[in-house]
Amino acid sequence: MYLYSRLLLLLSMMSLPIYFAPLQGYTDAVYRRAHASLFGGVAAYYTPFVRIEKDDFRRKDLCDIAAENNEGVEVVPQAIASEPDELRRIVDKIASCGYHRIDINLGCPFPILARRHKGSGILPYPDEVERLLKPLEEYADLAFSVKMRLGWESPGESLRLLPLLESAPVRQITLHARLGKQQYKGVPDVESFARFYEECRLPLVYNGDLATVDDMVVLERRFPRLAGLMVGRGLLAAPWLAEAYACRGVMPQDRYERVARLHERVAEEYKTVLQGEHQWLARMAEFWEYLLPEADRRLKKRVLKSRDEREYTEAVRTLFLSMKEKATAG
Ligand SMILES: Cc1cc2nc3c(=O)[nH]c(=O)nc-3n(C[C@H](O)[C@H](O)[C@H](O)COP(=O)(O)O)c2cc1C
Repeated sequence: MYLYSRLLLLLSMMSLPIYFAPLQGYTDAVYRRAHASLFGGVAAYYTPFVRIEKDDFRRKDLCDIAAENNEGVEVVPQAIASEPDELRRIVDKIASCGYHRIDINLGCPFPILARRHKGSGILPYPDEVERLLKPLEEYADLAFSVKMRLGWESPGESLRLLPLLESAPVRQITLHARLGKQQYKGVPDVESFARFYEECRLPLVYNGDLATVDDMVVLERRFPRLAGLMVGRGLLAAPWLAEAYACRGVMPQDRYERVARLHERVAEEYKTVLQGEHQWLARMAEFWEYLLPEADRRLKKRVLKSRDEREYTEAVRTLFLSMKEKATAG
């Protein structure tokens, strides 16, 4: 195992860094810790955004970034805000937890936030973006990155922001190749990403719909100056994807055994933090939402429809058994 992880580290250094995208409700500290201990190939895990709500931090957000809940995992916490003072408060809080890298969310498409010019809702307003990012100049010892979309309404918005981002203390940009108004619909607009790539002098990370090693290799070849790839739902579906990319498409043979262990750890940990069977089953249903799309649909449905822990455990056992049989046969 030691030799394998050394080899993997070496191989990862020969390909683009892979960043695990933040996914609110999915990639919390419990999931990130379990994933990092069982699968390789991820350079850093971005956290779902920390925000201020009713003039205060959410306990859930602070718990998610607390150092003791992220031991041994390379984590980049993310902040979302529309006002400079609001951003300053979040940055101070994140820095007080011991972090030196902070990502700023200019990409969230949720209408409630976007209407308040947060996330991708701020992209059409360069003056507001400039004002928002101004306080970052006060933190010489912190490294900031930005995660954004092509725009809210049109891809011209990100291009218009580029000079401003390049003169702000921003060290890296991750660009999700969609518009805010699209939410998650349609396909990523790779041609608009290409125009941004041509203009951008900052390290640039591609994000959007990378589901297979082939998808990743196509991007890496088309954009040789990329600083990395960010993958979200693809890694939730195939937790070994970053590792398979580092190994140039060779799938880890024990991938389903490791997914089973990932499940076991996550399920056990949620039992200690969630209250009652109902909450636990709901959280586990989310865990399965994107996981293993290649699994038998009937078996997956049984997992999702389980009414109690006993039914759930039996349904999961049957599903993993079928996956192992599939892997041995194939
Ligand atoms: C349920 C869900 C929650 C998300 N939460 C966040 C978030 O907190 N911060 C963020 O920057 N992006 C968030 N995203 C966007 C993802 O990080 C990513 O940009 C998007 O899913 C596209 O990448 P993918 O196709 O690899 O999943 C979220 C996406 C989904 C589907």
